[in-house]
Amino acid sequence: MTDIPRLIIDTDPGQDDAAAILMALGWDALGKIKLEALTCVAGNVPLAYTAKNARIICDWAQRENLPVYAGADRPLLKPLITAEEVHGKNGLDGVTLHEPRTPLQAQHAALYLAETLTAAAPHSITLCPIGPLTNLALAFSLAPHCVQGIKEIVIMGGTFFEPGNVTPNADFNFFVDPIAAQIVLQSGASIRIVPLDVTHQACITRERMNRLRALPNQNGTRLADILQSYERFDIQKFGLDGGPLHDPCAIAYALHPEWFTCKTVHVAVETATGLCEGASAVDWHGTTGKTPNAEWAYRIDDEAFFDGFTEAVTALP
Ligand code: RIB
Ligand code: CA
Repeated sequence: MTDIPRLIIDTDPGQDDAAAILMALGWDALGKIKLEALTCVAGNVPLAYTAKNARIICDWAQRENLPVYAGADRPLLKPLITAEEVHGKNGLDGVTLHEPRTPLQAQHAALYLAETLTAAAPHSITLCPIGPLTNLALAFSLAPHCVQGIKEIVIMGGTFFEPGNVTPNADFNFFVDPIAAQIVLQSGASIRIVPLDVTHQACITRERMNRLRALPNQNGTRLADILQSYERFDIQKFGLDGGPLHDPCAIAYALHPEWFTCKTVHVAVETATGLCEGASAVDWHGTTGKTPNAEWAYRIDDEAFFDGFTEAVTALP
């Protein structure tokens, strides 16, 4: 029997992060993956909210035993940029929030990542960063050798064929901390990137929203409420037929890479300030002669993806 993927999700919940975390917890409940921990970073909303929201989401899945760590409260160099206009002031618009029961671990997320990956068996853990990459960059700077424990890094971030969602050229995660993104891309780890090129093909349409709402469990209805609040921004801005499920796409890739079509390319992130800050420089035709460092996903089987997403959510309380 092949080993199931062991995941650490680095996250800035965030409404689509909540969908991704619940999806991972559902697949964990089904024994399809082993979710080891959540590490939180400032991004969609400040760290105080992202760390609290991660704990609330664990409560929703009755997984108060899942380790949750708080990490960087700002990018490595530039001031923090947040996205309350999308996710709401507390980061989880659309539902009522309670005081979390799931405890917050005392250790800084970057130290947890550095220690855990250093001690892990070679190439045994899949990292799924679905927010700005500050925690991973800190861990790799603290303990460069820790990369040995990484099976692959599945990053939700970047854009190349699609317009950016925070500037004309950049997605939010790479724009908030471009230096961190560049550090991760240069780490030497095996990297898969799930950019807007793909996530804009995986939208929560009205029909799919109704499928969630029709599920017999609380988390189906709860997710439908969250995603109904989330979708207005992207429908208005991009004219999509629903909110793009950015972060769940990264979780899906970790378990079902066969749902995605990728190209092996060299990717770098623009770290200079200005119009192209945070842009993904994807060497699609190999013109730089640089050795490819990532698999860039550019197509998704969105029907299979959403069936898998619904399967995972159905396994939740
Ligand atoms: O660009 C989309 C990404 O930025 C998603 O991870 C979303 O949650 C925000 O963090
Ligand atoms: Ca996110």
